Amino acid sequence: MEQILYHPVKISSLVVPGNLFLAPLAGFTDPAFRQICLEHGASFTYSEMVSAEALARNSGKTINLMKRAPGETLLGIQIFLPDRSTAHRALPVLLKAKPSLIDINCGCPVPKVVKTGSGSALMRDPEKIGEIVKAITDNTDIPVTVKIRSGWDSGSINYLEAAEYAVKAGAALITMHPRTRTQGYSGFADWSMLKKLKNTIDVPVIGSGNLFIPEDAQRMLKETGIDGVMFARGAIGNPFIFEHTKELLTTGSCTGTVTVHTRFSAALTHLKRCIDDKGESAACREMRKHMGSYTKGIKGGAALRNKVVHASTYDEYEEIFSEFLRSL
Ligand SMILES: Cc1cc2nc3c(=O)[nH]c(=O)nc-3n(C[C@H](O)[C@H](O)[C@H](O)COP(=O)(O)O)c2cc1C
Repeated sequence: MEQILYHPVKISSLVVPGNLFLAPLAGFTDPAFRQICLEHGASFTYSEMVSAEALARNSGKTINLMKRAPGETLLGIQIFLPDRSTAHRALPVLLKAKPSLIDINCGCPVPKVVKTGSGSALMRDPEKIGEIVKAITDNTDIPVTVKIRSGWDSGSINYLEAAEYAVKAGAALITMHPRTRTQGYSGFADWSMLKKLKNTIDVPVIGSGNLFIPEDAQRMLKETGIDGVMFARGAIGNPFIFEHTKELLTTGSCTGTVTVHTRFSAALTHLKRCIDDKGESAACREMRKHMGSYTKGIKGGAALRNKVVHASTYDEYEEIFSEFLRSL
């Protein structure tokens, strides 16, 4: 029977309309970026990772990370934390944000996070993952999901064990980035582990790792039989990847071309929303990291990026883009 590659995903009581997820990306997946991705076909998005400890302490800056974009109905809030007691303390504040689901970060490799016993440090103590999930599922009906790596290092590949603890404690979905903590974001992401995971657990599995073009997603779904894919670096500066992938999965082909004009137009819409949210000066500064990606692959893009790094107002960005388009 032919495999249907694009379809809804049922996460406990929550039905997500499609299976193309935007990853949680610290420093990137703010409301403005999520909204652009949703408009271009993302089925579901997550907040940046949020410190549960800071939530427990009622930090306004951290609470702000859970803010929704205008009209954003579904939102996964991802938290990082070391243990169940932090979960207990953070939960009342977290629930006020009414997340569609709560995701537990078991993958972050950053030393500042790992040192606290959070993120990928949890892969060294998978029983704790179960304890954290249970601390939340015992106290709310909101679906709890877990994002894991394949293990801490190549000598301790334990993703099946970690996922089993999580599911036993009530996790409704597992996302896996099949690299170890030691690998960080480079090297081989072993998709065969996604297939093994899918064949081992009874909840949906979402795959992450090296998804940069629609054909990557198609191949991951076909090769592994998992339920959905999660775009991360591949979506930065390229929200079009969602609609292109949906087209590929539903029709079998996709031209995948985006004109320079369309790229600039999306970048300016993105910037405008970021300004509404954070003010012009902060937004223009923050957009620089996105602009490198929006202009990637454009002939003359390097010169354009050199100009953009000096832009500090919306009008300056707009003028730089207009000038570039006039020169084509
Ligand atoms: C800049 C950056 C920020 C990230 N932030 C998070 C995060 O907050 N939470 C998380 O679970 N993963 C985070 N990740 C990991 C991604 O969600 C994803 O699993 C990883 O990049 C692999 O996918 P890719 O190879 O397609 O980029 C981050 C990755 C990058 C590059």
